Amino acid sequence: MKKAIVVSHLIKNFEILEKGTGFKNSFASLLHPKKRIITAVNDLSFTIQEGELVGFIGPNGAGKTTTLKTLSGLLYPTSGFVSVMDFNPWEKSPDFLKQISLVMGQKNQLWWDLPAMESFELNKEIYEISNKEFEKNLNELVSLLGVSQFLQTQVRKLSLGQRMKMELIAALIYKPKVLFLDEPTIGLDLIAQQNLRDFIYQYNKKYNATIILTSHNMKDLIDLTRRVIVINDGRLIFDGALEDLTLKFAQDKLIKAKLSDEIDIKRLEEIGMVKKFEYPELIISVPRSTVAIAASELLQNYPISDLTIEELPIEEVISTVFKQSKGF
Ligand SMILES: Nc1ncnc2c1ncn2[C@@H]1O[C@H](COP(=O)(O)OP(=O)(O)OP(=O)(O)O)[C@@H](O)[C@H]1O
Ligand SMILES: [Mg+2]
Repeated sequence: MKKAIVVSHLIKNFEILEKGTGFKNSFASLLHPKKRIITAVNDLSFTIQEGELVGFIGPNGAGKTTTLKTLSGLLYPTSGFVSVMDFNPWEKSPDFLKQISLVMGQKNQLWWDLPAMESFELNKEIYEISNKEFEKNLNELVSLLGVSQFLQTQVRKLSLGQRMKMELIAALIYKPKVLFLDEPTIGLDLIAQQNLRDFIYQYNKKYNATIILTSHNMKDLIDLTRRVIVINDGRLIFDGALEDLTLKFAQDKLIKAKLSDEIDIKRLEEIGMVKKFEYPELIISVPRSTVAIAASELLQNYPISDLTIEELPIEEVISTVFKQSKGF
């Protein structure tokens, strides 16, 4: 397998000017501006193989967008090494730009007052796609995303979901091999989210495209990615399978049971931490190592009609990871 993306000891600092508060201090900071360095990405390293679809997660301000912008050539690294399909992104060579695309859910990249079709045609010229190729790609994307009736609608009049689909078409009309998707499902309704996930899945499979997907929506990660890279404060915290994230960071498992008779909640506390007790439903959190013993104890000594053992929800695991890594 070929390495598509290499990030090695990447550091990205931003220099900001601190403004004083109040008139006197604001005036003073105009005359003597105080500079402060923010380290948005701090010694980050990872490698992604061609065709991988990787989740890239971290709390607000962790450095995800900064990393994706650096990989797309929009930001210059402070230090470290970055390569995408063997190109140095910062050189922005046309051959590199034809292979990558950055889609930001929070940013509109289409011409606002024109129909989306005009933006697609502009991209056709920029990326030097032949008429034939353009027609073929456009038809395929439009039918996959089901937006044929909106091609001539002014972008400003589209709904968020319709616009996001158009953004994707503009970004993919030249069939890039590497996709950086920065929160593509943000603000979309459940059906639109699912459509987009299906589309991302198919694009990855069909073209063996390498995709980095940033999202705060766990369903995106569970459905689409096997591997996740977790960062916090610009640093790598975890790089591996989503299931292993749970194994490594979730100390507990959940026992979910249905009761067939009332019981005394106090007695349950000997078994584990009661998370929910609403007759007939019971959820207890128990250390991973003793979950089998706890389950058999429950079955033997309590009126239980049904019992399952489950992992903690991934949202909970991830918030534990973020908390544990503070001050890392
Ligand atoms: N152009 C900039 N100038 C100064 N600081 C910046 C700039 N861009 C980002 N930062 C800072 O760098 C840090 C990382 O920001 P970044 O946007 O990469 O986070 P993120 O992980 O994408 O967060 P979110 O989940 O909120 O999108 C933040 O502290 C942010 O304030
Ligand atoms: Mg971001």
